[in-house]
Amino acid sequence: MDAVEVIRTKRDGGRLSDEQIGWFIGRYAEGGVIADEQAAALAMAIFFNGMEPDELATWTRAMVDSGTTLDLSGVGRPTVDKHSTGGVGDKVSLPLVPLVAACGAAVPQLSGRGLGHTGGTLDKMESIPGWSARLEPDAMVEVLRTVGGVIAGPTEDLAPADRRLYALRDVTSTVDSIPLIASSIMSKKVAEGTDALVLDVKVGSGAFLPEVERARELAETMVGLGEHNGVRTVALLTAMDTVLGRTAGNALEVAESVEVLDGGGPPDLVEVTLALAGEMVALAGIDADPAEVLASGRAREAWDAMVRAQGGDPEAPLPAAPHVEVVEAPESGVLSRLDCRSVGVAAWRLGAGRARKEDPVSPSAGVVCLAKPGDPVEAGQPLLELHADDPDRFVAAREALDGAVEVADEAPPASPLVLDRITA
Ligand code: URA
Repeated sequence: MDAVEVIRTKRDGGRLSDEQIGWFIGRYAEGGVIADEQAAALAMAIFFNGMEPDELATWTRAMVDSGTTLDLSGVGRPTVDKHSTGGVGDKVSLPLVPLVAACGAAVPQLSGRGLGHTGGTLDKMESIPGWSARLEPDAMVEVLRTVGGVIAGPTEDLAPADRRLYALRDVTSTVDSIPLIASSIMSKKVAEGTDALVLDVKVGSGAFLPEVERARELAETMVGLGEHNGVRTVALLTAMDTVLGRTAGNALEVAESVEVLDGGGPPDLVEVTLALAGEMVALAGIDADPAEVLASGRAREAWDAMVRAQGGDPEAPLPAAPHVEVVEAPESGVLSRLDCRSVGVAAWRLGAGRARKEDPVSPSAGVVCLAKPGDPVEAGQPLLELHADDPDRFVAAREALDGAVEVADEAPPASPLVLDRITA
């Protein structure tokens, strides 16, 4: 087999054979035989020429088989996970994992870190004093058996082909290709060993793929790949035109998630959390009402147990930024737009996110939205709070917010948060 021949096949619009795919992915994951520039050339050829559904299924399977698959058979509960394509203020995993665990399922969530304007679940959790993302597979099975929920970093040998390829895609502008995104996400979820999966595919200005048609195509592709690999999969398309909840930033989002677990929290965050929890519980075959479980306090108990199981102290005060500035409403009326991506970029520039994967993040930096679209505002009223460790960061954050806020005479038409549901 020859890497150049594989690249040429895809460059010329052909279908890669199962043998070509298995060889290329296997050798690339091992390292040594296939150079990064050859993998980058193949990613670019796939970016332009796409993949047939059965070709993509083989590609995804080869990525799963490039590493080990977790064995969750000892967990003793039905397993179900959720994956979000990511958005600004998307902290849903934090209340959702303990909620679904408290409903009786096991949620083995292996998450990532943030890059660019969207945050990462592990970065958020790491703002909890003492909490560690590292959990060995045996310990993970034990926490899933007893508590029912885990949020942890992936092990090195989980879909290693994806780890290498994703790092390359990031620097070769080949991230936003539907087959490459779908296979990347689904290979990790299949390797994680979950029986069922709910996908939260975000649509709107803060989403990875802002247009609804592309988001729907991604959702359909991922649902197909899940089912093909024996993982019962459902996707919800949910709105990401404005920040979900009121906060974007690591510790700020943890605090807001705990509010939800204590029975409060912003209505949009509660609605998306309950919609996803309902799908997860149904896929797991459990007869429970997530709204009742949330109100009972059992989800909060599961959160405390989850945090403690990974060395964290759920009672410890969260880190707070030493510097806070406000952005005021430019005029009186109704807040008609608070652009999601701009708030995400502002939070990132304040220190909440990273530009390169090796960069550190600030646990306390971020943005608090004091008003959301639809709220009446008075000129000069504080609209946003900017939190930073370093006051020099405020100038760039304010620049990101230029043009992000619009005030109108009337409230914008209400639009649903859950836009569509995709099943096999
Ligand atoms: N998240 C992933 O894990 N992979 C992608 O390709 C895009 C987002």
